Parts: sequence; structure tokens; C-alpha cells
Amino acid sequence: MTVQECIRTRRSIRKFKPTPIDHAVIEEIISDTAMTPSWKNSQTVRYICVEGALKDRISKEATTIWPGNGTIIEQAPALIVVVSIDKRSGYERDGSASTPKGDGWTMFDAGAASQTLCLSAHDHGLGTVIMGLYDESTLTDILELEDGRSVSALIPIGYPDIDPDAPKRKEVSDLLSFKS
Ligand SMILES: Cc1cc2nc3c(=O)[nH]c(=O)nc-3n(C[C@H](O)[C@H](O)[C@H](O)COP(=O)(O)O)c2cc1C
Repeated sequence: MTVQECIRTRRSIRKFKPTPIDHAVIEEIISDTAMTPSWKNSQTVRYICVEGALKDRISKEATTIWPGNGTIIEQAPALIVVVSIDKRSGYERDGSASTPKGDGWTMFDAGAASQTLCLSAHDHGLGTVIMGLYDESTLTDILELEDGRSVSALIPIGYPDIDPDAPKRKEVSDLLSFKS
């Protein structure tokens, strides 16, 4: 698959086969994801691969904001929790924000990493969907996340059981302008 094919044929997958994912495959995907650029190469994004009873607990207890996500997580063989280390990306060593965007760069790095993860998963024949709708404090408790870390996204992952069409995209002329 070329990079362009990978970008263009990746879809958000919300229905998965029950086939488990070999942990070596997950490790390869995270090895690809580690190549994502980050603020001053600070590499503040971490990944927790959740399976089994803990995943079931997350699907039931941490998706009250939109239970549809719970249904998706429930039937995915694994859930990648994207975790950010706070106050490093976009910050100076003395703790002051490097730019007026403050902690915005933390989510920027998590977003870039999430896209790399989804593209690598697709290249490995796996489907993913990035989720922003989850109950953050419940999830933090369930995962017993240490202080100074926060959940930036959830990404259920598994072998796709559907082949959805691409949702319509805007035209390049709507997206791009040139200035000189
Ligand atoms: C930041 C972000 C949050 C999202 N949150 C959810 C979500 O909570 N649940 C869901 O089913 N899809 C979620 N999506 C997936 C989008 O709906 C999806 O990417 C979009 O409709 C385009 O479809 P495609 O990924 O197949 O191209 C999210 C995507 C992003 C980037």
C-alpha cells in the first residue's frame, strides 16, 4: 500500500471481528507511531492497550456521555487509550508556556500520534476509530492513571467487520488558499 492509498482508504471502523490481535502487531504499530513528530521531540504521548474485563468496564462505565461509543468498545478486541504527560509539550523547562497556545500543543501531539497509529493499523489490516467522547474522570479512576497524565483519546482497534464509504470531504478549493 502506498502512503497515499493508506491515507485515502483509512476509514473510521465501528464494527469489528472478535479475532484477537497479536501483541507483536500492536507493538509494531506503536513502534511506527513512535516516529510521529512532537514538540521539541518531547514524545509525551503514551499508549495503554486495554483488553478483557477492564475494557468491558470502560465500555460500560466510562461512556455515559455517548453510550454508542460503549457499544463500539465492547465489541472491539482491544482499546488503545492515548495518554498525554501534562505540561511538557509546549512548555519550557521552568514550567512556563512557550507560546500563547499554552497546553494546546499537548493535544496537538496526541492528535498527530493518533493519526500515525490509525494509518499504521490500517497498513496492518486493522481498523480503528478515534474517540473524543468518553467520561474522563471515570476513565482516569478505572485506569488508576498517575497524577500529571491525562487521557487525550480512545482508539478501539480490531479487524474490520464493515467496509464503510468515505464520508464526504470538502473540495480542495474550500480548504486551500494561496497568498503572496
Ligand atoms: C478528535 C476526534 C474525535 C472523534 N470522536 C469520535 C467519537 O467519539 N465517536 C465516533 O464514533 N467517532 C469519532 N470520531 C471519528 C469521526 O467521526 C470520523 O473521523 C469522521 O466522521 C470522518 O470519517 P473517517 O474517519 O472514516 O474518514 C472522532 C474523530 C476525531 C478526529
